[in-house]
Amino acid sequence: MKIAYFSVTGQVRRFVKKLDLPSFEITDFSQSDVDDSFILVVPTYEPDITYPADEFLEDYSDKCRGILGSGNRNFGDEFVYTAKDLAKKYNLPMLYSFEFNGTQEDVANVLEIITKIK
Ligand SMILES: Cc1cc2nc3c(=O)[nH]c(=O)nc-3n(C[C@H](O)[C@H](O)[C@H](O)COP(=O)(O)O)c2cc1C
Repeated sequence: MKIAYFSVTGQVRRFVKKLDLPSFEITDFSQSDVDDSFILVVPTYEPDITYPADEFLEDYSDKCRGILGSGNRNFGDEFVYTAKDLAKKYNLPMLYSFEFNGTQEDVANVLEIITKIK
């Protein structure tokens, strides 16, 4: 499974590197990247920052098998709201959430979830 991601300060990029799967940034991808299905990983910020993820899903949500959210639990009820909002808007499964660049346990959990997705 390919991983598509959006990252502003690099935490999501670091998490994706730890997964060690084929990946691409949604701000810099080629057509061949979106020929196959993928999972999208997004950080959590105001929509005026995360709009590239929304625009990407407008075009390619049919290839997206689910969304992972990175955030900070100090934000309470607003933890990973970007991923949750996008999952709802595009009717996609919200697969997992984690803080910052994720722990080794998060990496193992996500790899386990991904193996079950066709
Ligand atoms: C200005 C700002 C606002 C944020 N707002 C939220 C938030 O509302 N909810 C949340 O869960 N995390 C929030 N975060 C945390 C980031 O989403 C989190 O650190 C994420 O790992 C950043 O990923 P990135 O480095 O790939 O951009 C915020 C971070 C910043 C700097």
